[in-house]
Amino acid sequence: MKTILVAGGAGYIGSHMSALLTEKGYEVVVVDNLCTGHWQAVKGGAKLRVGDLRDGAFLDRVFSEFPIDGVINFAAFSLVGESVADPLKYYGNNVSGSVSMLTAMKNHGVENIVFSSTAATYGEPEKQPIEETDRTEPSNPYGASKLAIEGLLKWSGRAYGIRYAALRYFNAAGANPEVEIGEDHYPETHLIPIVLQCALGKRDHVGIFGDDYPTADGTCVRDYIHVRDLVSAHLLALEYLDRGGESGAFNLGSGDGYSVKEIIETARRVTGKPISAVTEPRRAGDPSVLIASNKKAREVLGWTPERGLEKIISDAWAWHSGHPNGYEG
Ligand code: UFG
Repeated sequence: MKTILVAGGAGYIGSHMSALLTEKGYEVVVVDNLCTGHWQAVKGGAKLRVGDLRDGAFLDRVFSEFPIDGVINFAAFSLVGESVADPLKYYGNNVSGSVSMLTAMKNHGVENIVFSSTAATYGEPEKQPIEETDRTEPSNPYGASKLAIEGLLKWSGRAYGIRYAALRYFNAAGANPEVEIGEDHYPETHLIPIVLQCALGKRDHVGIFGDDYPTADGTCVRDYIHVRDLVSAHLLALEYLDRGGESGAFNLGSGDGYSVKEIIETARRVTGKPISAVTEPRRAGDPSVLIASNKKAREVLGWTPERGLEKIISDAWAWHSGHPNGYEG
């Protein structure tokens, strides 16, 4: 049986990863400092070790305690706006955490890592859909910190034989209500959970950040991908590296774009609630359209996203309506 270390495994995407690995019969070791993660999201079967990736001695102990075969690293700060206000926090945590993780891997002879990267590495896209070979020019320190780590992975590959898949996520959403895990961020900044908080009566409206973009209805278009499809791709990437696949970056998106207004409309239909929306000024730094080409992940990893927008919103709704206070109740 293989043992996989999931860094950030108590967070939103990491907890879905741990649940999938456990279901598939892997031994799962979660490391998380619980700064934004929730211990309740680490379900039975996975072992939790609480500590910070930047603490090399802590990682050394974990790598000595368990026979780690591969690493999936989700641990990072991920708020775009906050990263602009405090770039040192983002470079400091995200880059240093990865340096420390790669050091432990090198010292303990662990070769394969699946890394959580982002569409924010592209910045303002040159064209749609976005391909992995397109220009990467992040427009915020969050995306820049992830791109810096992709560079670090490449050079660590050449120097130490580390093998990696950097997975560039588009808009992760949805939940796994069967395992009772879902999105629980504070503060919440993402569109779908905010819309569902309106449906729950926890907010009285959702602000639409700009309706004068050059899109069909004037609102921003994004590529929403179900978190369960997202984590399936990580497992495929791990297996791909295991059989000697070439390191590289892969987009993870559905390939379909939906506008902010379409998201709100779908949420009204799925929840049966009115959900009031008010147009507000644009949010700084939002590109008008971000849609992935997922051709490379389909062809090279054999990945097929299976869950569309209705399923994303209905799973998210099942989680939020069943856990209106997130993991606290
Ligand atoms: N939006 C609103 N109102 C809200 C919240 C969001 O209109 O209250 C809009 C945004 O302007 C954007 C869309 O809804 O057009 C989606 O916004 P999110 O904040 O949900 O997601 P982003 O597209 O901004 O961010 C995602 C990831 C980031 C990543 C980024 C890459 O969540 O981690 O894509 O561009 F960095």
